[in-house]
Amino acid sequence: MRLKRKDILTIEELSREEIEMILSTAESLREVSEREIKKVPTLRGRTVINLFYEASTRTRTSFEIAAKRMSADAVNISVSTSSVVKGETIKDTAKNLEAMRPDCIVVRHAAAGVPMMLAANLACSVINAGDGAHEHPSQALLDMLTVRGRLGALEGIKVAIIGDIAHSRVARSNIYGFTRMGANVVVAGPPTMMPPGIEALGCVVAPDVDTAIKGADVVMMLRIQLERQKDAFFPAAREYSRFYGLDEARVRLAKKGVVILHPGPINRGVEISSEVADGPYSLILDQVTNGVAVRMALFYLLLGAVREDAA
Ligand code: NCD
Repeated sequence: MRLKRKDILTIEELSREEIEMILSTAESLREVSEREIKKVPTLRGRTVINLFYEASTRTRTSFEIAAKRMSADAVNISVSTSSVVKGETIKDTAKNLEAMRPDCIVVRHAAAGVPMMLAANLACSVINAGDGAHEHPSQALLDMLTVRGRLGALEGIKVAIIGDIAHSRVARSNIYGFTRMGANVVVAGPPTMMPPGIEALGCVVAPDVDTAIKGADVVMMLRIQLERQKDAFFPAAREYSRFYGLDEARVRLAKKGVVILHPGPINRGVEISSEVADGPYSLILDQVTNGVAVRMALFYLLLGAVREDAA
């Protein structure tokens, strides 16, 4: 099994078959992380560079662990210690990294489109680990893996995505992903954080959070992306949590056995209460565990076997 593409840049461009292939590969790789010796030799001799221009705890660590569990060599570059602070452009940085012959560059950047620009200019694979408010494909894949693992299928389920839709790459990637897999996606949040025309992505905009959550199989809460907001989009954290936060009363509106997700980092008491985040329906830490499996699958399907288009 292999993907007929060099890069993973967006969920928008992935077909249902490709998403299926990634999820089932991740499912079979999940057990590697449960072994005492958490390593398979599959990607021995391959080199992965993690190039992160934005803060990250989960995603960067997850890509690094995934590469190492597949036996690839993983190198991490964080911008504060790199030549970027000396004025080098991202394209020059990438060209110089490419000269060291990596097989894959994983990139996170505050500007939308940077991974696409690198992919067009580099011979190695590029994985988008989050580009501005655009897409975060590996996050949506791990979210779909988590939901499929708990509910069995994605077809026909109701997924409510709540919060700062406008600035969230997680929301965009998940709207594309879940709708492609046949789920019904409803979004809700403050009107100032709801991009006009978002329905074009295949989702429905609910008038309020309660309507969105009613009967939902999955509720995905988002962090307010303060780092992407130039002006004040909301008055105060307390107000926000009252109108848009997830507490136990709101959880009761959802379907019995609802799956609660959050990509992290969570702001306890703002978009999600501690009772819900730590409660029985929360799969927030399962998402993190599944993140490693999804990224192992991406490395395997991009670097593992000879790609069909390269054969
Ligand atoms: C998200 C991101 O960076 O887009 N986090 C993550 O990758 N797990 C969401 C966020 O920062 O709120």
